[in-house]
Amino acid sequence: VKSVNVAELHRMRAAGEKIACLTCYDASFALIEDRAGVDFVLVGDSLGMVIHGRSTTTAVTVDDIVYHCRAIKDSLKRAYLVADLPFLSYATRERALDASQRLMQEGGAKMVKLEGGREQADIVEYLSVRGVPVCAHLGLQPQLIHKLGAFKVQGRDEAAASAMARDARLLEEAGADCLLLECVPADLGRRITEAATVPVIGIGAGAGVDGQMLVLQDILNISPMVTVGRSPRFVQNFMAQASDIETAVAAYVQAVKSGAYPAVEHCF
Ligand code: KIV
Ligand code: NA
Repeated sequence: VKSVNVAELHRMRAAGEKIACLTCYDASFALIEDRAGVDFVLVGDSLGMVIHGRSTTTAVTVDDIVYHCRAIKDSLKRAYLVADLPFLSYATRERALDASQRLMQEGGAKMVKLEGGREQADIVEYLSVRGVPVCAHLGLQPQLIHKLGAFKVQGRDEAAASAMARDARLLEEAGADCLLLECVPADLGRRITEAATVPVIGIGAGAGVDGQMLVLQDILNISPMVTVGRSPRFVQNFMAQASDIETAVAAYVQAVKSGAYPAVEHCF
């Protein structure tokens, strides 16, 4: 099988084939996700919450992300491996480059993801011109939790929406090869995707984006948030109709590809 790369993500966007994305933290799940046809596998800093049991992502380190990348990289034959740059690991150009080097060389990541808008354009350009593909994560930025106070929908009014759309454009111009939108109104997700020239992945960003991302433990209905009954609106439990995990993951991939997920009730 041919592995997914940046060009393939662009082809899928152009062809209107939805990109199925899912987080993954260990080899057992990596084999299942790869077999089930997940296109884009993320070692995200959500591992701080779903694996380490913290209430935020901010304690996650570069070592943690490298550790989980190493656990899954050899099990992915086709899927594209993307890794999060954790909180403050890209606070300066040098730190961003060192952290990205570790995620790619030790972890086997093909792309790094970082949170932020125009204020990160300089870092995105610094990485991009050195051959590091970057996914820029806009909308809800969980790494800002200590400033935001709560996880909530972003870009609700027109001023915030157009600022985010401008940020998306600036990050693309800085060299971002992919955008990720978290918790934004469906209209804004569509607007940014239509204006973009790179693939746009959404999590809680409606149906008008090029691909969908969810956290593995959320679709399996076993994440701490789900377990305490505080699961976000955009989460769908794919175990409800499935006899085993691989069937649930394959159903998620199918639902993304067919457009059945997200449904209106998952959107803002
Ligand atoms: O860390 C993560 O899992 C993420 C996704 C929710 C986009 O950043
Ligand atoms: Na993340």
